[in-house]
Amino acid sequence: MSAAARATANGPAAASGTPPGVPRHVGIIMDGNGRWASARGLPRALGHKAGAEAARRIIESAGHAGVGWLTLFAFSSENWQRPAEEVRDLTALMRHYLATEVSRLIKEGVRLRVIGERERFGPELVRAITKAEAATAGGTRLNLNVALSYGGRAEIAAAAREIARRAAAGTLDPETVDETSFGGFLGTAGMPDPDLIIRTSGEKRISNFLLWQAAYAEFVFQDVLWPDYGPKELEAAFGDYARRERRFGARAA
Ligand code: FPP
Repeated sequence: MSAAARATANGPAAASGTPPGVPRHVGIIMDGNGRWASARGLPRALGHKAGAEAARRIIESAGHAGVGWLTLFAFSSENWQRPAEEVRDLTALMRHYLATEVSRLIKEGVRLRVIGERERFGPELVRAITKAEAATAGGTRLNLNVALSYGGRAEIAAAAREIARRAAAGTLDPETVDETSFGGFLGTAGMPDPDLIIRTSGEKRISNFLLWQAAYAEFVFQDVLWPDYGPKELEAAFGDYARRERRFGARAA
């Protein structure tokens, strides 16, 4: 890799118009809402509410920093195993934000997309999501993906299933399947891979988030509970990222 490409940690993605040292695509595993609430003797629902406010702050900060793509892990495939009341609270929160935030997203040039198995939330939420995606489709400043009922393995399995279906129907030649075409069957088709994945709360796991897409991502783990996360913490993560030397499998210069 050339010194010029290495200088910005973004490597080959540096030609995207993203400011130097700023990751083009950031994924965030927003962890620690429950612990934040219990430390205050509050119900978990209030931790999630504070977490949603943190998400709102970070969407704004990421846009201002020049990030092009932001993917927030808001509900994993595994989160369905949580108590029904907590699932209901999280769903209600999403419904609320979809109803109240769309005009702000439009004003700020944010294009919202939901990745994951949205159908599992039922027709009412599916309609609200589809409507919000259509209403924000003209946004060009920041692409915001919210991962809902999302699991990396489920996403990869669904892609394999669709490829097998097409091969069986004779509309796809298995020999043409490669890494690029496979990526086109994922929820993130057409999007750049994440450059940086942040996880809060001190846990150091990927938890089934963007498994395929994170092949060359840098990871930053921050010991702060998600509801306390703000622009200062995001800036610190970007500072850490900017100091990394990304080689994408190539030899050090
Ligand atoms: C992890 O905290 C967080 C979640 C399971 C949900 C994340 C959801 C939000 C931030 C709110 C909704 C977001 C939007 C965009 C409307 P945890 O409950 O696992 O915390 P713990 O590990 O401390 O128990």
